[in-house]
Formats: sequence, C-alpha cells, structure tokens
Amino acid sequence: MGGSIVLFGPPGAGKGTQADAIVLATGKPQISTGDMLRAALAEGTELGLEAKKYMEAGELVPDDVIIGLIRERLKSQDAINGVLFDGFPRTIPQAEALAEIAEVSMVISIQVPDEAIVERIVGRRMDPETGEIYHIKFKPAPSEISSRLIQRKDDNEDAVRTRLSAYHSQTSPLAEWYLQRGILKSVNGNQAMGDVQDEISLLLV
Ligand code: AP5
Repeated sequence: MGGSIVLFGPPGAGKGTQADAIVLATGKPQISTGDMLRAALAEGTELGLEAKKYMEAGELVPDDVIIGLIRERLKSQDAINGVLFDGFPRTIPQAEALAEIAEVSMVISIQVPDEAIVERIVGRRMDPETGEIYHIKFKPAPSEISSRLIQRKDDNEDAVRTRLSAYHSQTSPLAEWYLQRGILKSVNGNQAMGDVQDEISLLLV
C-alpha cells in the first residue's frame, strides 16, 4: 500500500499496542508524536520543556510545535514510502498541514467507549528497557521485570479526563474530516487485543 497510514483513536484506544503488527505487515516506520515528545522531554531539549506542561496536564501541545516536529521527521530517508502515524494528526489544522506534505491512504479509527478508557490508562505500565507496553490486568508483565516497570506521569485519573475531553472537542471531529475524504476505516477496539489486530489485518490486505 502506498502512502501513509494514520492510527486514530482516543487515549488508551490501543494505538501503540497495535502499531507493532502494522509496522511488521507494511514495513512502514511508526511515528508517534507522543513518543517523540517524551524523548525530547527526557533529553531536556527546549521542545521537551515547552511540551512538558501541556502533556502532564493532559492538554494538546500547540499545533505549530507538532507540525514542525513532523515536517522534520518526514525528511528522513525511511519516510519515503509512507509511514504509520500514531497520535498524529489530532486537530483539523494538523490534518490540513499533513495533507500538504504527505499522502495519507488510510485512517484506521480504533473505537473504544469512554468507560473503558480510564481503567486502561491507569493500569498501563511500560518497560523502559524495551519500550513494551503492559497492563496490570489486561497484559501483565513477566514477574522478573515487574520491578523496573514505569508509569507515565499523565496516566492518572485527572489527566486522563482532560485527555478525553481534549479528544472529544479537538480530535474526534477529524473522523468526519477523513470520512468525507473516503479513507476512514473503523475497527472495534473494545475487544481482546488479538481480535483488534485481526480486524486491522483485514484492512491491510
Ligand atoms: P500520546 O502518547 O499519543 O498518548 P495518547 O493519544 O493519549 O495515547 P496513549 O499512548 O495513551 O494510548 P494508546 O492508544 O497508544 O494505547 P496503548 O496501546 O498504550 O500523547 C501524549 C500527550 O502528548 C498528549 O496528551 C499531548 O499532550 C501530546 N501529544 C501527542 N501527540 C500530539 C499531537 N499530535 N498534537 C498535540 N499534542 C500531542 O494502550 C493503553 C493500555 O491499554 C495499555 O496498558 C494496553 O496494554 C491496554 N490495551 C490496549 N489494547 C487493549 C485491549 N484491546 N483490551 C484491553 N487492554 C488493552
């Protein structure tokens, strides 16, 4: 499939969880704006420091910062045959900017109701050595690594409510925007991880 793919959905929908299999199936590199911002924060760059207050509060980082980040990233050689965007675009201005610099062939919307989101987010843990995402109930980590697992600062109930409201007011209108362009495909994200993956695989053939 030519062009780029966008993984779309609320916080905790399973975008990061499903990304690996899509990368494997398509050969397109994953570009996660959340991961890029967290890396900038860990390195203490100016960008990271600017993004910090928004991220920890659960608010969206301003569009010009994000668009600048993506423009730079898309200059890399590995982006030439399209990429898998995870967590971008998240506003109509971001989608408009993207349309000017890259071709999007499919938007995969992972649908999960709000009631399921808080439990997923609050129970998420990450292995800092491998980047693997776990969940205390839905995907427990092997016991030998459990002591090194970390929890994201924005994975608390207050921040998640703000993230959900940012999603509903600023991001969800994008679904209609892409639907009008005929490239939006929806999958049921409120089922076992393997079943979500199976639904996505059918879209990629
Ligand atoms: P970002 O890192 O993109 O966070 P997010 O969109 O809130 O998405 P998450 O990473 O929380 O969820 P996910 O869908 O990847 O779920 P996961 O697979 O981990 O962004 C963080 C912040 O950065 C934003 O708040 C904002 O400030 C800023 N930002 C980033 N991009 C931006 C942009 N474009 N514009 C402006 N600001 C931006 O799964 C979650 C948990 O559920 C895991 O524990 C997993 O094991 C579990 N799980 C997954 N699937 C299932 C399943 N089917 N059943 C049960 N459990 C499951």
